[in-house]
Order: sequence, then C-alpha cells, then structure tokens
Amino acid sequence: MIFYFSGCGNSQHVAETIAAGLNDKLTFIPEAAREGHYEYTLAEGERLGFVFPIYSWAPPKLVLDFINKMSLKTNPDYLYFACTCGDNCGLTEKVFRKAVEEKGWSLSACFSVQMPETYIGMPGFKLDTPENAKRKIDKANDLLKRNIPRLINKECFSEIIVGSLAWVKTYLVNPGFNRSATDDSKYRVSEACIHCGKCMETCPLKNITLEDGHPKWHGNCTMCMGCYHHCPVNAIQYGKATVGKGQYVFREEV
Ligand SMILES: Cc1cc2nc3c(=O)[nH]c(=O)nc-3n(C[C@H](O)[C@H](O)[C@H](O)COP(=O)(O)O)c2cc1C
Ligand code: SF4
Ligand code: SF4
Repeated sequence: MIFYFSGCGNSQHVAETIAAGLNDKLTFIPEAAREGHYEYTLAEGERLGFVFPIYSWAPPKLVLDFINKMSLKTNPDYLYFACTCGDNCGLTEKVFRKAVEEKGWSLSACFSVQMPETYIGMPGFKLDTPENAKRKIDKANDLLKRNIPRLINKECFSEIIVGSLAWVKTYLVNPGFNRSATDDSKYRVSEACIHCGKCMETCPLKNITLEDGHPKWHGNCTMCMGCYHHCPVNAIQYGKATVGKGQYVFREEV
C-alpha cells in the first residue's frame, strides 16, 4: 500500500515507478483525506510506503496530518518513505520518524530522490535548466532501479540528502513556511487566460474554482505551485516572484 502526494508530477512518477516495481497499489493522499478515508487494513507482510515532495526541508504538512489521522488494524512490519527534492531535505527523516512513532509504527527505510525544482515563489529561487532537469530525472531513474529491489527485499536503509544548516531549515524555517503556505492571496491571473480550467482540474486540494472563466483561489492551498506550472499559457503568477521564470511539469520525456 503506497500513499503519495504530488503537485507537479515528480513524486507521482516516483510513486508510480515504485508501485510498478512492487506490484503495489497507490492512494493519492488529498483524495483519501477529502473522502475522510483514514482506516486501512494491511495484508500480512504487506509493505506500507509514503511518497511525497519536500516542502521547506520537511514533509508537506498535509502528509503529516494524514498520517496523524490514519488508523491501521495491524502495525506494518515494513514501513518506508521516498521523498523528492530539488536539492536537499534537511531533517525530514527525523520529522517523519517521529510522526510514525507517535502511531506506534517504526520506519524501516527511506531515501530521497533529486528531481527538477518546482519552487519559484520567492526571489532567488529558479527552475533547473532543461539539461539539468533531464540529468536529474535520468539519475533519479537509476536510483529507483537500485532501491526498488531493496524495498522488495525489505532492507533497512536510510539514504537522505540532508544538506547544510539542516536543523535551522527544518525546525526554524519550516514552521514559518507552514504558517504562510496556505496564503494563496498572491496568486493572480493575467488576460492571457484562455479559460481552459486546467488549473482548477489539477489543483490537488480542489482550492480553485472558475468564476466568469477565471480562476479564483479559496485559501486552502499547500503551495505546490501546480496551478502555476500546469497553466498552458503561463497566465498565472505568484506576486512578482514568478514573473519570467518559466514552467515545469514532470513528463516522461523532458
Ligand atoms: C513549496 C515548495 C517547497 C519546496 N522546498 C524544497 C526544499 O526545502 N528542498 C528541496 O530540495 N526542494 C524543495 N522543493 C522542490 C520540490 O521538493 C521538488 O521539486 C519536488 O520534486 C516536487 O515534487 P512534485 O512534482 O511531486 O510536486 C520545494 C517545492 C515547493 C513547491
Ligand atoms: S492552489 Fe495552486 S499552489 Fe495551491 S494547492 Fe492548488 S494547485 Fe497547489
Ligand atoms: S489553466 Fe491558465 S488558461 Fe486555463 S483557466 Fe487556469 S489560468 Fe486560465
């Protein structure tokens, strides 16, 4: 059983690749949460996996909230997570470990997968060049080829890119991010909008409606930037920070 979250497709690709390798099934966390589906039963020996992007050097709050509400009939004998990041993850492993230990579960394995950057919501943050994005995806696919057999064999391992100033980033910067992440008031749409509804369809939290053909944000945002990146005419901006920075969505061929 694999639970995953993804805003721009990177973590979805990783989740789908792991699911194919393990012949396992996927559950999209925001959908399960919307349906209030928190109770699950693992078959004997079944692995429990989580796949998600790193947001501000920690798992997204919605992933931790989901775990907090989950209930399992029996404790998993093998629990792992795979996280995708643009660069590094800070003390994500520690945060995740605490979240599952509070449930009485224990973490067996975890690894991070560098994928193309999606966060451009502040000055100084930019996307990878197409060449770098392709390099990262090729390396990620090699990493998955190596690590999926380890998950199949229920190996215990930890392979997380922590990065510098990890404590400061995870325990000081991340809480600030979580406080402001739901603030979607800086999202704007330009006259280029062709009223296609793609932003509304792709928002994982169903936080967007179309009013007179234009997107309206409703304050329940996780800052995945999916609406910005998926717009076919780049009509969405997040304040001034995103202007001229281009778009990225995971596709099999970059
Ligand atoms: C709000 C936000 C915060 C992010 N924070 C980090 C971070 O702390 N470290 C990092 O390496 N990448 C960070 N990223 C980049 C993403 O983790 C990375 O691009 C990820 O693969 C996106 O996954 P997705 O396509 O499944 O949404 C961030 C992206 C977003 C949207
Ligand atoms: S409104 Fe945009 S940034 Fe916020 S959760 Fe939806 S798609 Fe992601
Ligand atoms: S995806 Fe872009 S063009 Fe389509 S409705 Fe949303 S803002 Fe308009």
